Amino acid sequence: MDTHIGKDIQIAAAFLKAGELVAIPTETVYGLAANALSEKSVAKIYAAKNRPSFNPLILHIAHIEQLHKYAFVDEISMKLAMHFMPGPLTLLLPKKIIVPDITTAGSKKVAIRIPNQSLSLALLAQLDFPLAAPSANPSGYISPTNAQHVMEGLNGKIAYIVDGGDTTVGLESTICEVTDEVIILHRAGSITAEQLSAVAGMKVVNDSAYQAPTISDHRTDSPATPGQLKSHYAPHTPLYMGNIAELIQTHASKKIAVISFHTHYEGVDNFILAPDHQLSTAASKLFATLRTIDNSNYEIILSEFFPNEGIGIAINDRISRAQFILK
Ligand code: TXA
Ligand code: MG
Repeated sequence: MDTHIGKDIQIAAAFLKAGELVAIPTETVYGLAANALSEKSVAKIYAAKNRPSFNPLILHIAHIEQLHKYAFVDEISMKLAMHFMPGPLTLLLPKKIIVPDITTAGSKKVAIRIPNQSLSLALLAQLDFPLAAPSANPSGYISPTNAQHVMEGLNGKIAYIVDGGDTTVGLESTICEVTDEVIILHRAGSITAEQLSAVAGMKVVNDSAYQAPTISDHRTDSPATPGQLKSHYAPHTPLYMGNIAELIQTHASKKIAVISFHTHYEGVDNFILAPDHQLSTAASKLFATLRTIDNSNYEIILSEFFPNEGIGIAINDRISRAQFILK
């Protein structure tokens, strides 16, 4: 199959209506989209990404009212939706029967979000079905933040890539789930626990800290959010996170790339993410920088810990997951 890049949402809509795969831009990362209500189309997503069948997909919709079509929405989730959608927030909700099991990998819950990206919103508005869309990368590799990244990983496997330029946020959406007692944060993103808590008036806890039986339906054979598996967003080049001066000493004989917030280190190649000292800038550059380094001939990547506040929490989460783990 030939894969074309363009900005024509009519072409994208035609492919999607015909059951084909189309990569779409969002404000977070590019998604690999298909008709979420068609088992046959959704199966193509798993195949193209080589994604394990137990890892569920996020539903992308155009309007808040459509939440009710696909899920049972409690009052607090609705409050969060009104406040943060369209935007980089995904809500995990009890699913309605219209959503096929393959889309949620057998879970009774469905993850839903409204991407804040004009081309994709216009595309969604033309369709009478929602789009299932995981990040548009081969399973296990770094998420794509521009159309070229998608091409690198999926050329020949998908029909079309809608080119919306570089994504603005650069890290995947925050995923949360409202329960009777607390809000569970399943994945950190640019919308923080503090922001969710302030809007909802409820406590927010990390999913690793939460073990109530109310979310156990999907936990017997897999984690509640498989994206939280330890190694998920890994470059091929081994990556270590920590004190850079010490790590440089330890790996002195190797060709080193250093990822830093804004500090320059002597004797190595520097990849400074945010000369402006803004964490949002660092977040938007992280994945593209990891790819650039991975496509060069470095033997090792060393990364700083970023300030663990705001979107810095999500940055640290993604970098630590990309770390080299001895198996
Ligand atoms: O920003 C984003 O969320 C991007 C863009 C394309 O929208 N999408 C994205 O999708 O990051 P993906 O598939 O790469 O990550 C979705 C995460 C996975 O960790 C998946 O396990 C989790 O969401 N997830 C999806 N549906 C779920 C469900 N029903 N129950 C638990 N976890 C779910
Ligand atoms: Mg992904």
